[in-house]
Amino acid sequence: MAMLRIDKLLTEMGFGSRSQVKQMVARGRVSVDGTVVSRPETKMDPELSEITVDGMPVVYTQYEYYMLHKPAGYVSATQDNCYPTVVELITGAVRGDLFPVGRLDLDTEGLLLVTNDGALAHKLLSPKRHVPKVYQARVTGIVDGEDIAAFQNGMDIGEPEWTLPATLRVISTDETESFVEVVITEGKYHQIKRMFAVRGREVLYLKRISMGSLTLDDTLKKGEYRPLSGQEIAELKR
Ligand code: URA
Repeated sequence: MAMLRIDKLLTEMGFGSRSQVKQMVARGRVSVDGTVVSRPETKMDPELSEITVDGMPVVYTQYEYYMLHKPAGYVSATQDNCYPTVVELITGAVRGDLFPVGRLDLDTEGLLLVTNDGALAHKLLSPKRHVPKVYQARVTGIVDGEDIAAFQNGMDIGEPEWTLPATLRVISTDETESFVEVVITEGKYHQIKRMFAVRGREVLYLKRISMGSLTLDDTLKKGEYRPLSGQEIAELKR
């Protein structure tokens, strides 16, 4: 593991802002291998040395990966003035720099990956990679073959580029609504709602089921989360 500045390390581990952490060091609250650190720029290897704050060992974690079942009413951001954020739901997180990988609308539910691994996020969100995302939706009216063909052919939703081919499958219908599954391989703003809007339909409910190799655990209730397994992390990185 590389040598890290002690103030950066403690900030990343959620001990406060850089200036708060510098103050902790100045007050003699931080030690490395039993010796009080006097300079916040001191470098150390967290795998080889033990760092303590007020005598309590700090467990260093470089990356965290969580599968969250996002409930409606939470914003996919790290900070917001109006609504609670998805990151606030990860109450057991060690690090202070987690963020959601991509965005689900305020009223959309389902799978959201929350991590601090920027390289993985970049990979999953890159428009060139066409990572498939599966959604379930309840929409107005009876979805028919023309809707399915329109999704498959790509459509003009008012963006410079038409949407890429998307798979639309009807799961069930009643007299007024359809329950469907949609697979898209890109992530334009409000994409599914806008695609249905072009077809004259309104999305009444939207839930993401999967993103690439990662599928929402059906044991996770809305608002619950769990760490990804080593295998899930490896598959996402592949
Ligand atoms: N498409 C939408 O319209 N909203 C989402 O949250 C995700 C995909």
